[in-house]
Amino acid sequence: MSNTQATEHKKRQIIVGITGASGAAYGLRLIEKLVAADVMVHVLLSDAARVVLKQECDLCLPEDPKGTVETLAQAIGCTSDHLRSYGTLDWFSPAASGSSGIEQMVVIPCSMGTLASIAHGMSNHLLERAADVMLKERKQLILMPRETPLSAIHLEHMLKLARLGVDIIPAMPGFYHRPTTLDELIDFMVSRVLDHLKVDNKIAQRWGMGE
Ligand SMILES: Cc1cc2nc3c(=O)[nH]c(=O)nc-3n(C[C@H](O)[C@H](O)[C@H](O)COP(=O)(O)O)c2cc1C
Repeated sequence: MSNTQATEHKKRQIIVGITGASGAAYGLRLIEKLVAADVMVHVLLSDAARVVLKQECDLCLPEDPKGTVETLAQAIGCTSDHLRSYGTLDWFSPAASGSSGIEQMVVIPCSMGTLASIAHGMSNHLLERAADVMLKERKQLILMPRETPLSAIHLEHMLKLARLGVDIIPAMPGFYHRPTTLDELIDFMVSRVLDHLKVDNKIAQRWGMGE
């Protein structure tokens, strides 16, 4: 193992999946904060995520994983050494197997389609497979679903997954801190996710703490 590989191996590793639900900016902000916290982030994108990233964030990600990492790093304003990305059918990537030892995964935002696939163990592409691995290995899986209104199907899937120990953190920012910018609303949600990942952060005000 080279020195670079050994250093990478020691870093905390977290999988961040981005799907085609509205709210791609939540995913980008989470990646930014994890990289700042010295986490190695394995980014998994669904095809629809690329469409929404272009529509909502003007971010055109190339198909190849190397280009994806470079473009993401540039958009987020970080170096690419903390980012990894893989093709949607790359079954040889670390995220595809429990033996990789990655302990945590977040799907942010999570579409109702991906929610359904995870709830049914479909594993049609790498993002779904990675979530299935988290479930079978009893590792931490956090989903940030986004849709409105929610049908009984959506709610049943969330309930099923919550009962399996999945953290369901819906994209529902609070307004009690009187946010005045979009960034504050995004940070509200991302800080809740970071708290659940146990990644130290001070990006949003804490209830009753007066800061
Ligand atoms: C701009 C845009 C916004 C969308 N917003 C949502 C959404 O909030 N929630 C959702 O479940 N699907 C949403 N969709 C539809 C999903 O992208 C679509 O169902 C897709 O098949 C999901 O695929 P994925 O789960 O593989 O990412 C949106 C699509 C577009 C283009």
